[in-house]
Amino acid sequence: MEAIKCIKERRSIRKFQDKKVPHELLNEVIEAAAFAPSWKNTQVTRYLVTEDREKMNKIADGCVLGFEYNIDTIRKAAALVIVTMIKGRSGMERDGSATTPKGADWGIFDTGIATQTFCLAAHDKGLGTVIMGIFDENKVSEVIPVPEGQQVAALVALGYPDEEPKAPKRKSAEELVTYID
Ligand SMILES: Cc1cc2nc3c(=O)[nH]c(=O)nc-3n(C[C@H](O)[C@H](O)[C@H](O)COP(=O)(O)O)c2cc1C
Repeated sequence: MEAIKCIKERRSIRKFQDKKVPHELLNEVIEAAAFAPSWKNTQVTRYLVTEDREKMNKIADGCVLGFEYNIDTIRKAAALVIVTMIKGRSGMERDGSATTPKGADWGIFDTGIATQTFCLAAHDKGLGTVIMGIFDENKVSEVIPVPEGQQVAALVALGYPDEEPKAPKRKSAEELVTYID
């Protein structure tokens, strides 16, 4: 798929067909997402994937702060991806000092880029995704064991789309850009 088409036509998908996503296909998506840029190529993003209905329902019912959209989305998804980030690495030197005034904040920046790359690659492969930020990460960690040294950055629901939503309105380039002389 052409890149601009993929970027513009990817939508957040919250309704999914009752159909499993083959692991080979998901691995292809993750391999593509691994080509996302990262601070000094630190590659701090990881993906914990569950297809276990019981765990997914526990997250839907107990970990999304009661946000209805996320409850319904997670209950219908084929898989839930818990995107994690290795803490305190991106933006930092090996001796533990911060390279720039942003310190370790670059980690969440990198993980955002990786997550969007994941969603674009998934769209290219005919899969639907939605990034979810409304959840309680401590509660998610009680359901899904998060490896030592990592923290939950975002949840992504994944599956074959069962809807074709219209694009929410976007700002124009003129509204977004300021050219500085
Ligand atoms: C960091 C982040 C957090 C988000 N959190 C949620 C969420 O908790 N639930 C949800 O349904 N959508 C969530 N979204 C999806 C946005 O609502 C969506 O991207 C936006 O409305 C634009 O729609 P589009 O993705 O179809 O272009 C989130 C998106 C981002 C990038």
